[in-house]
Amino acid sequence: MLDDRVRAVLERLEREDATERDQGLPASERARQVAPTTGRFLFSLVAPQTDCEVLELGGSRGYSTIWLAAGVRYLGGRVLSVESDPRKIEAWHRNVEEAGLADWAELVEEDALEALPRIDDVFDVVFIDAEKEDYERLFQLSREKVEPGALFVADNVLSHPDPLAEYSAARQADPTLESVTVPLDRGLELSVVLR
Ligand SMILES: C[S@@+](CC[C@H](N)C(=O)[O-])C[C@H]1O[C@@H](n2cnc3c(N)ncnc32)[C@H](O)[C@@H]1O
Repeated sequence: MLDDRVRAVLERLEREDATERDQGLPASERARQVAPTTGRFLFSLVAPQTDCEVLELGGSRGYSTIWLAAGVRYLGGRVLSVESDPRKIEAWHRNVEEAGLADWAELVEEDALEALPRIDDVFDVVFIDAEKEDYERLFQLSREKVEPGALFVADNVLSHPDPLAEYSAARQADPTLESVTVPLDRGLELSVVLR
């Protein structure tokens, strides 16, 4: 739930993100976190689900992880986040711990493309927020880890139409999915697994 600890960490990360953007730091040195409204949207997708198992690809310093973990804390579940950058990994642990959410979120400290084939779990929600050119492969690798009723959420599909328009088109043409582009912040492709 969004208690004072969670809110305090989210607000600090929002201030840090704004400062990094104002300073014009290169992307590799920034958190590159989702917008607060997207965070709230992610929270609202997972909080109403019982025992919601979430896979997050691209955890960065934990901003979106915290929204997701605060959501699954309501009715049970957990977030398995994957992040490969050592500088982000250290901050992820510190921030998730400070938010009081370490029991609801776990980090795989590895390249998702290598880690995913070894992950056996079944997920209810998959959030893709890694390098844009990897979305298609990340989707294909995660597709084997979901059942009908699961939801894929991919960020940046409107802010980065090259290459992500192709990602959205492929999901919308897939008869095993129902997929829609939600024009919130940088654009989210929501794909429900039908079969
Ligand atoms: C856009 S940021 C994620 C922001 C995060 N979802 C948030 O809102 O706080 C992308 C992150 O994905 C990580 N990343 C990119 N490709 C990856 C991969 N193949 N495996 C694991 N992490 C990856 C980057 O290091 C970076 O921290």
